[in-house]
Parts: sequence; structure tokens; C-alpha cells
Amino acid sequence: MQLPPWPYPKTIAHRGAGKLAPENTLAAIRLGVSFGYRACEFDVKLSQDNVLLLMHDTDLDRTSNGKGAVAAHPWTLLSQLDAGAWHSAAYAGEVIPTFENVVRYCNANEVAMNVEIKPSPGRGRETGTAVALACAAWCANSNTPPLLSSFSTGALLAAKDAAPQLPRAHLFQDPLLADWLEKCKLVGAVALDANWKSLSEAVVKLAHDNGLRVACYTCNEIADAEKLWTWGVDSVITDAVDRIAFRV
Ligand code: G3P
Ligand code: CA
Repeated sequence: MQLPPWPYPKTIAHRGAGKLAPENTLAAIRLGVSFGYRACEFDVKLSQDNVLLLMHDTDLDRTSNGKGAVAAHPWTLLSQLDAGAWHSAAYAGEVIPTFENVVRYCNANEVAMNVEIKPSPGRGRETGTAVALACAAWCANSNTPPLLSSFSTGALLAAKDAAPQLPRAHLFQDPLLADWLEKCKLVGAVALDANWKSLSEAVVKLAHDNGLRVACYTCNEIADAEKLWTWGVDSVITDAVDRIAFRV
């Protein structure tokens, strides 16, 4: 079966630059680019007042000096938080970026985006819709469309409804459950996006035989990445931007 277009490199920087800089900040994305990476993955969710921003966790506590749920706070408050000091003194004062500012940076620097829709609990559909509409508006002239991914089937269905032309990948945890192919088909995914430990050569072949590309996270050893590429994995998402050289 013919595979869909895959304009993404073989390596994608996880949360900007993995653990080398505060995750999901512009500083992290810039650091990944300084290591030669031309594609990055990051996590997007909504503030209480519907501003799209980058953060992995439901709560602010781990990666900022804020407390409680991201979705319980308006952007005016979130924009004042320090999202760098938790990582190291060198990044103190780094802010939570808006998704819009990250898209501007990536578009201006030709950095391909893997936008993980990471909804706060109960906000799957609205986050999927908001991310897809934003991407459609801000990336209409981009050479490489943003790849929208999510563990949330509902968020991906909403993204499909809002901007069906944007490529989608369905994320899955380890172990990969039996319904992965059905879910990928349901959301019209171009790719299976699996935990690398849950992949095998047979799963990669089954995905490809069903017209799906294969991406995986978060592979941080070059020997493992080489094995995955030998199996035909299309993109490996990695924290190790300093040890795994960018590969087209
Ligand atoms: O998008 C791949 C990967 O980032 C998914 O897991 O928990 O790091 O967001 P997580
Ligand atoms: Ca992620």
C-alpha cells in the first residue's frame, strides 16, 4: 500500500531539547536547533481563558513556580510564571510560551513541528479544535505542515473535523493495545506514534502495510534508534539531541 507523504526528519527533538533545557520553552526549542535539529515535538493545552500554551503536565507545579491546574488559571497569570528556574539557574526567568509564539519561531526558522495536543482533563475536543484551527491559520504557507498528535482519540477527531487537511498521528502508551490500528483509522491518522519499547519489526510492517507511517518516542540511545530505523521507523523522537545526531 502507498504510504502518505512524510516530510519529517528521522529525528525529532522531544519537548524542544529533551532534558538539556526546561521542557516546552522557547529556550529548549532554540537549544535543539543549536544542535542541528530541524524538527521538534512539544505539548499544547489551553489556559482557563482559552489561550494555547506549551506545558506537559496538567498541573503547573513540576515545571514552573505556579501551583495547581493549568486550566484553572488565566493567561495573564500564567504569563507571569517562571518556567525555567526549576530546571537550573541558567534558565531562571524563562517564561511559559504561547503556542502562537512557538509557531512564529518555528515558521521563521523552518523548524518542523510535531504538535502534541495534550488536553487538560475534560477539555479534549475543545483543545483539539483550537490547536487545529490555529495551525490551519498560522501554517497555511508552511512548506511542512505541523504534525498533530495526541493520546486522546477525541482530541484528534475534533482536530480532524476542524482542519481535515492537517496530518494526524495517534499516540499510544506501552504496551501497544490491540485496537491501535482501528483507532488510527478512526481519526484518519497518517501515522502510528508509539512508545519505542512497544514496537517490533512486525508492528512497523503491519502499520506500513496499512498505509501508516511510524513515529516513536522517547528513544535516547543511538543503538536503539539504529535498530528502529532498520525496521523502517520513519521518525524517532528523542531527548538526546546532544548524542543522537540530527538525521533527515
Ligand atoms: O509525543 C511523544 C511523547 O512526547 C509522548 O509522551 O508524556 O512525553 O508527552 P509525553
Ligand atoms: Ca509530548
